[in-house]
Amino acid sequence: MMVVLVTGASSGFGRAIAKKFGENAHKVIALARRKDKLESLQKEIPQCEILSCDVCDKEGLKQSLETLPKDFKTIDILVNNAGLALGIEPAQMCDFNDWERMIEVNITALSYLTHLVLPQMVERKNGHIITLGSIAGKYPYPGGNVYGATKAFVRQFALGLRADLAGTNVRVSDIEPGLAESEFSLVRFKGDKERANALYQGSNALQPQDIAEAVYWVATLPKHININTLEMMPTSQSFSALRVSKA
Ligand SMILES: NC(=O)c1ccc[n+]([C@@H]2O[C@H](COP(=O)([O-])OP(=O)(O)OC[C@H]3O[C@@H](n4cnc5c(N)ncnc54)[C@H](OP(=O)(O)O)[C@@H]3O)[C@@H](O)[C@H]2O)c1
Repeated sequence: MMVVLVTGASSGFGRAIAKKFGENAHKVIALARRKDKLESLQKEIPQCEILSCDVCDKEGLKQSLETLPKDFKTIDILVNNAGLALGIEPAQMCDFNDWERMIEVNITALSYLTHLVLPQMVERKNGHIITLGSIAGKYPYPGGNVYGATKAFVRQFALGLRADLAGTNVRVSDIEPGLAESEFSLVRFKGDKERANALYQGSNALQPQDIAEAVYWVATLPKHININTLEMMPTSQSFSALRVSKA
């Protein structure tokens, strides 16, 4: 039995990851802003504590962790999943507030929570930090600008942690999915359901459950195995040629 803290557990990957661990008799701490969604998830998981807070609220986050009951306090697995993309315009047309928000959630908050949770893992010589990167952190695409850059940070941060944590037995893994169906596109397109649905239609995209299976596999491998990065795409997604703009 492990204690697993999942951020962004109110929808998409985070919800599926929380359920997967919960169904396998692990204790789950489900964190996100939307309390109603967390409460409905809690009903589906036998041992689940919910923390309704914004990952960007450093003080609130710290205090929320302090309110956890004793048997949920020692976190074995931190799944740094909360994250978002905002907009898909070319860089010169982007709203800078969107860029700042992505940096705040995908980079600053993820780093802060890791910084909070990591020392007790090192002390116990046991733990696993799992981050949700993206193929966008590796392969650029038009309109991916700051979102892709935040996910490149996540990937390199995870690898850097691996280097720092040598000899501690603490594992670190970055899961890097491609196109996956969740609320992700609805958030990216700022509530435009039609546009979000059109992206997934006919694409046979990955489903949150697919990501949950991957995370669970990585987390439950024998302790001498560390998956550094795991890139996954729907079979329907692949690469296109480099673009050449002609005069
Ligand atoms: N879907 C994809 O195609 C895809 C591909 C590769 C990587 N990813 C990454 O996978 C992760 C999960 O995405 P998803 O597809 O599951 O998207 P999603 O369905 O939109 O879920 C995002 C989750 O993050 C939470 N969240 C966002 N901002 C937050 C904040 N400030 N504080 C606390 N929680 C916050 C949301 O909860 P609340 O709104 O309730 O706070 C929600 O539970 C993200 O890091 C995303 O970048 C997604």
